[in-house]
Amino acid sequence: MSALTPLREIPDKNIFRAGDVFVLFGELFGRGYVNGLLDEARKAGMTILGVTVGRRDENHKLRPLTDAELKEAEANLGGRIVNVPLMAGFDLDAPEGTPNPTDLLAGLKLNNWQEARLDWAQIERCREVGVARFKSSTAQAMAELDKLIPDGANLFFAHTMAGGIPKTKVFLAIANRIYKGRGERFMPSRALLDSDLGKMILMNFDEVTANTFQYLIEASSGIRERLARNGGETRYTAYGYHGTEILIGGEYQWQTYTNYTQGYAKMRLEDHAEAAWGQGIKATVFNCPEIRTNSSDIFVGVELSLFPLLEALMKEGDGGWAYEQWKQCESLLNDGVSLRDILDQIADYNANSTIASFRNYAAWPMDNTAELAEVMVGTSEEITGLHKDRKALITDYLSALVLESTGPLIFREASAPHGPVLWLNHDVVAKQLIGMH
Ligand SMILES: NC(=O)c1ccc[n+]([C@@H]2O[C@H](COP(=O)([O-])OP(=O)(O)OC[C@H]3O[C@@H](n4cnc5c(N)ncnc54)[C@H](O)[C@@H]3O)[C@@H](O)[C@H]2O)c1
Repeated sequence: MSALTPLREIPDKNIFRAGDVFVLFGELFGRGYVNGLLDEARKAGMTILGVTVGRRDENHKLRPLTDAELKEAEANLGGRIVNVPLMAGFDLDAPEGTPNPTDLLAGLKLNNWQEARLDWAQIERCREVGVARFKSSTAQAMAELDKLIPDGANLFFAHTMAGGIPKTKVFLAIANRIYKGRGERFMPSRALLDSDLGKMILMNFDEVTANTFQYLIEASSGIRERLARNGGETRYTAYGYHGTEILIGGEYQWQTYTNYTQGYAKMRLEDHAEAAWGQGIKATVFNCPEIRTNSSDIFVGVELSLFPLLEALMKEGDGGWAYEQWKQCESLLNDGVSLRDILDQIADYNANSTIASFRNYAAWPMDNTAELAEVMVGTSEEITGLHKDRKALITDYLSALVLESTGPLIFREASAPHGPVLWLNHDVVAKQLIGMH
């Protein structure tokens, strides 16, 4: 277990300027975290480059983007994209003529998946094929990038990759029970972790969420060393998650979403940053607050920790701008429902003994329980129901604020990073927002 190492002060150094290069290692999705960093890179006048995860054809074969897809993705990014498919993980990889992990999982049904055993020798062969494919594509992408990054430039690699859920019908049903279910429909996360299906998914998470960071750092060593010869600096950042300190009972306290099944992979991601740091490479994992994005929407209740940000905004500023945010948020609620009511409900939620028992950093990532799901999913559903429009939630509004703040925090901290793993908690997020507005 790593020590909790929060970033407490707003960083103010910036080594990046026009002519320097920002590379997005992952693909840009609408509401994703990396939008905040991209805004900063654009403001600094950096050249923006990106990669793609590629697309799958009707036979699940990975392919580059078509011309039309590439044009759209480049317009969206505001920069050139190296068109080598960088889908990570091995769920659809296998030695020629043998079944891939998704094929192996195809026979699983809701009534047999817990007992089903996988052929681990075959899974291992598939993993080797997937890793070799990703490493070779990354090498190819780096060779392309090498030509686009001039001597004398500083270079910023932003890693966003996270995922690895295989496309099997049965997992969707299981995930709905683990992350959204309560009462009769609840299923404990431990059931998944104890199954072969769960073990295979954790291996794939490791590949996508964690090891891609290591492969990136290794594959870009040539570019890094070339730039260094002319004094050019290279930085690597990745988005982690390992709980967040939020205001509970007037104090910043660490809490987490449970069960965060990707937690093991996120700790491995931290290990990769620490190993690189040990070799003198400036690689930092920024453990970020819970926000609502395409990737986190499945976790019902993950958004509950966002509400106390409103209180952090009051605490860290003089109240003026924070008050406007309160009013904006209140306007999203049904007539007759006050924001104070919601914040009181969140305070009760955090004081609840079941919820409090999960604030255990040393035991992270803990398994979920039926009692937890009852309170967490229940509170989430109740609060969502108090909004005028389920598609315009207070937590959407607050997610955008958090995202906006992490851009400058990560961008500037990366200029002179304090360490390989840093937490961006609600205190520094609130201070950054107040400073910006
Ligand atoms: N949303 C949150 O609450 C939260 C909190 C802390 C950290 N993060 C982290 O922030 C990062 C960005 O996530 P986000 O929530 O902004 O969502 P997002 O959906 O915008 O980003 C997910 C990224 O993962 C990439 N990806 C997914 N599957 C992949 C695969 N098989 N191979 C390669 N790349 C793949 C996508 O291209 C995309 O860039 C992730 O590392 C995520 O874990 C998110």
